[in-house]
Amino acid sequence: MVSFSIWQLLLLSASVAQAAEITSDTYFYGQSPPVYPSPPITGTPSWAAAFEKAVALVSQMTLEEKANITVGYSPLTGCSGETGTVPRLNWTGLCISDAGNGLRSTDFVNGWPSGIHVGASWDRNMAYQRALHMGGEFKTKGVHVALGPVVGPLGRVAQGGRNWEGFSNDPYLCGALASETVQGIQDAGVIATTKHYIGYEQETNRNPSGGVEAYSANIDDKTLHELYLWPFANAVHSGSGAIMCSYNRVNNSYSCQNSKLLNGILKTELGFEGFVVSDWGAQHTGYDSAAAGLDVAMPSSSYWGLDGNNLTEAVKNGSLPESRVTDMATRLVASWYQMGQDVDFPARGVGMPSKFYTPHPPVYARDPSSKQFLIEGALEGHVLVKNVNNALPLNNPKLISVYGYDAPSPPEMNVGGPNDFIGGTWVYGYESTLDYIVFISDTSPPQIAANGTIISGGGSGANAPAYISAPFDAIKEQAYQDDTSLFWDFLNVDPTVDTSTDACLVFINAFATEGDDRTGLHDDYSDALILNVASKCNNTIVTIHNAGIRLVDQWIEHPNITAVVFAHLPGQDSGRALVQLLYGQQSFSGKLPYTVAKNESAYTNGGEPSLPEGEYTLFPQSNFTEGVYIDYKYFDQKNITPRYEFGFGLTYTTFSYSNLSINKLETVSTAPTAPPSPIIPGGVASLWDVIAQVTAVVTNTGNVTCAEVAQLYVNIPGGPVKQLRGFSKVGIPVGEPVTVEFDLMRRDLSTWDVASQQWLLQGGGYEIWVGSSSRDLPLKGTLII
Ligand code: NOJ
Repeated sequence: MVSFSIWQLLLLSASVAQAAEITSDTYFYGQSPPVYPSPPITGTPSWAAAFEKAVALVSQMTLEEKANITVGYSPLTGCSGETGTVPRLNWTGLCISDAGNGLRSTDFVNGWPSGIHVGASWDRNMAYQRALHMGGEFKTKGVHVALGPVVGPLGRVAQGGRNWEGFSNDPYLCGALASETVQGIQDAGVIATTKHYIGYEQETNRNPSGGVEAYSANIDDKTLHELYLWPFANAVHSGSGAIMCSYNRVNNSYSCQNSKLLNGILKTELGFEGFVVSDWGAQHTGYDSAAAGLDVAMPSSSYWGLDGNNLTEAVKNGSLPESRVTDMATRLVASWYQMGQDVDFPARGVGMPSKFYTPHPPVYARDPSSKQFLIEGALEGHVLVKNVNNALPLNNPKLISVYGYDAPSPPEMNVGGPNDFIGGTWVYGYESTLDYIVFISDTSPPQIAANGTIISGGGSGANAPAYISAPFDAIKEQAYQDDTSLFWDFLNVDPTVDTSTDACLVFINAFATEGDDRTGLHDDYSDALILNVASKCNNTIVTIHNAGIRLVDQWIEHPNITAVVFAHLPGQDSGRALVQLLYGQQSFSGKLPYTVAKNESAYTNGGEPSLPEGEYTLFPQSNFTEGVYIDYKYFDQKNITPRYEFGFGLTYTTFSYSNLSINKLETVSTAPTAPPSPIIPGGVASLWDVIAQVTAVVTNTGNVTCAEVAQLYVNIPGGPVKQLRGFSKVGIPVGEPVTVEFDLMRRDLSTWDVASQQWLLQGGGYEIWVGSSSRDLPLKGTLII
């Protein structure tokens, strides 16, 4: 075969030229096979009505008009992007805006808990309510498309700069919460954009620069399906109207022109009916990207032409079939109809002035009903990992001492709420334009944001809070109620301690932002601060606002450190929520959505991103050779003891587990899942069938009503030791045992078979565990399939 001999030749020449620098991308490990033509939207039953209307509208458009709506224009509003319009048919185009934690760059919106915080809540209903209310804000502002949720990065690189935007390192937890988020945003009438598709696991070399291509995430087929694609399948199943292709390359082809990923996996295997939008500037080729499955190029397209004229030309000269351009337009318009945006949708970008300081009619998007979910969402993402000597809850203290740069409000809030780059934490981002932010760090980017508390990370996922309740704000208010005296020092790394103090509260953070990976998982300044306070105060309580994993081994076993809270990124009600938890007005209910190691070396690649190296200096390669074994699956595989395991979190009571019951549903067959079971959004329909049910009883063995997150793990024969495949968050009163239920779908027990290209369910025994974390699993049984 010709291709075989070329391959042999390439191998030969590669070995001859060993150590030489690669100057073309024809020879690589990690190849993307071509998959053409691009499958058109089918009008599957759940999209049928929208599809029909879209066909009717698009069939009236000229080729030029169809091409025009697939490219972005420099927005006249504050929208992150705007599509072209068809004035002749009164089609006014779409406003597309960031992001997954709230609407950015405008006024009169809320700053919601970030993705990692929602992940730590393990609460499906909370994820839905947050998304519904957040989505309502996008709609009121005339934003058709929300650029969230984030399910990639998934946290393969512990130092990843954007891990905090996503929910969890576990695909099942991430997928479940993404599903709720997509439904919530879209129930509000706004198109959700699940991003970034796919393998976008590091910021380092995410884009081509100076002759160096973006890194290539080299992912084998099984790993792709069982890990990175998993939450995208949830999102597509929930009807995500848009998917954003990512900056990086995957198997050496840019994600936005990767026909295997777009035409093959997303639009064929997952039956995706919406549109693929490029990340901003992620398009790197012309009609090839259209042929490969890209539908909309943002924020503009030099490749397709300012008004899509190059696409039109490509059709006219026979390079691209017009049917592809028709499909691109139809997918976009169908998503618009699918969310009901043809009826009573506010004018495009009506609440999105490009400059807040130029005259504009105010558009108030903060619905009073959001208040409840802002505070509940903030409460639920706090994870208590240490609490000894009855340190918490605080009980009518006479004197509290407050330390650390993360306790007070960031000073920019003193200059004012809505502004051009908007929002307290935005200034910590890579677009920082202020020079009064002091970072106590000699690394770039800084490991901590040292000039006040953080409520989100930085970059396009930062949010635009209406206010910030900082820890110290809320502590002062509580002190007023309780007649508590306060002592504070936010500046000194070795502060003095009043020996009469009841407790020393130390606030630190771990900062992360789009555009850069973190330079470590703990920092010396914060560690020294904690140890210095602990050396003088025998009731030192540490709170960490962490935009990703933060190690604690420098001080966690210090006997004077009595309580530790991973407070994540709670959004604008941060301090208010924390104080309610510290004082026991509310109970902690969060669990870690990732593993905290004892040191960096425990993580894949030491937690660090891949760098351009050796012969691949111009074409950086990131080989995902660990397969599906990231986070707790990797720790289990390598027998590494974590500091705090995935799923761990304490509260003000204890629980016991009993009465495990495992029931297979009658109809289970291990026949292959490939068609004739139809393809629906999310893949083969039968994958979503519930085939087994598990129940267990949880009893509150303490004396305070608290919520528990009961977790179910499965050993799928041949796979990781255990994989999360169910969770249920329930409030459990004292003395009233509660039955928790878990539904197992066919997909939850299947593995991807590379040879036959389908999910297969194996016959035989599946070990099942239920308990309160990935390493505290008192109930064990076997499911026989
Ligand atoms: C780049 C980011 O990667 C993406 O998440 C964001 O939505 C766009 N910029 C638009 O700001």
